[in-house]
Amino acid sequence: MQIIVCENYDQMSFQGAEIIKSILLHNPSAVLGLATGSTPIGMYGLLAEACARGEISFAAARTVNLDEYVGLGEKDSQSYVHFMRENLFDKVDVPMANTHLPNGKAADLAAECARYSALLATMPQDVQVLGLGSNGHIGFNEPGTPFDSTTYVVRLTENTIRDNSRLFEKIEDVPVRAVTMGISEIMRAKRILVMASGKNKAKAVFGMVKGKITEDCPASVLQRHADVTVVLDKDAASLL
Ligand code: F6R
Repeated sequence: MQIIVCENYDQMSFQGAEIIKSILLHNPSAVLGLATGSTPIGMYGLLAEACARGEISFAAARTVNLDEYVGLGEKDSQSYVHFMRENLFDKVDVPMANTHLPNGKAADLAAECARYSALLATMPQDVQVLGLGSNGHIGFNEPGTPFDSTTYVVRLTENTIRDNSRLFEKIEDVPVRAVTMGISEIMRAKRILVMASGKNKAKAVFGMVKGKITEDCPASVLQRHADVTVVLDKDAASLL
């Protein structure tokens, strides 16, 4: 694992954006695996600015996202598809037809998981962006998830629901289920970029980088991947 420790969130975002920019410059039709959450917002902002300046283009890029809440769709402001449009897709030149997320409103969720998994098999990620849950989750693969998992419906842990409730009016509004890319599908990416900031991520960062490889800390599986770059701010790196 290559570890880059930055002074603060802005620098972390800058480093992350530079990595994605160089991937797109070398391969304009790259498959970008994307994450939602607070962590990549700064990076997406920088990528949108770079695109507006004409430094990079997403016109030929294809994207696959990690996850979506069950029951939420494009019209719901808390959905991940809404998040992606607001923070990246509507600000860059990516054709919407090239962007993919699981459909949280699918009537048949098992069929939706099979569809998304089959789609992922046809477009392995050139890079997968990951945030990190404070419990070590990647995507919404919570502690205990088998490393060979493929796209499935997960019941979120109390810890994750609490962490995510900051984005909802009240904790009862947080969906308790999500469709998530499985761990084996994350590991299929040619390159992985993990970003984390803040003290509340320090324990999970330690588990990911230096801990035992165990399903109790899903991110620890990344130690088995040949090309992982971890970009942290000082607080997230404080236990390393
Ligand atoms: C988001 C995702 C999650 C988040 C993680 C960290 O698509 O899959 O794993 O990356 O929960 O979230 P933030 O960045 O909000 O701390």
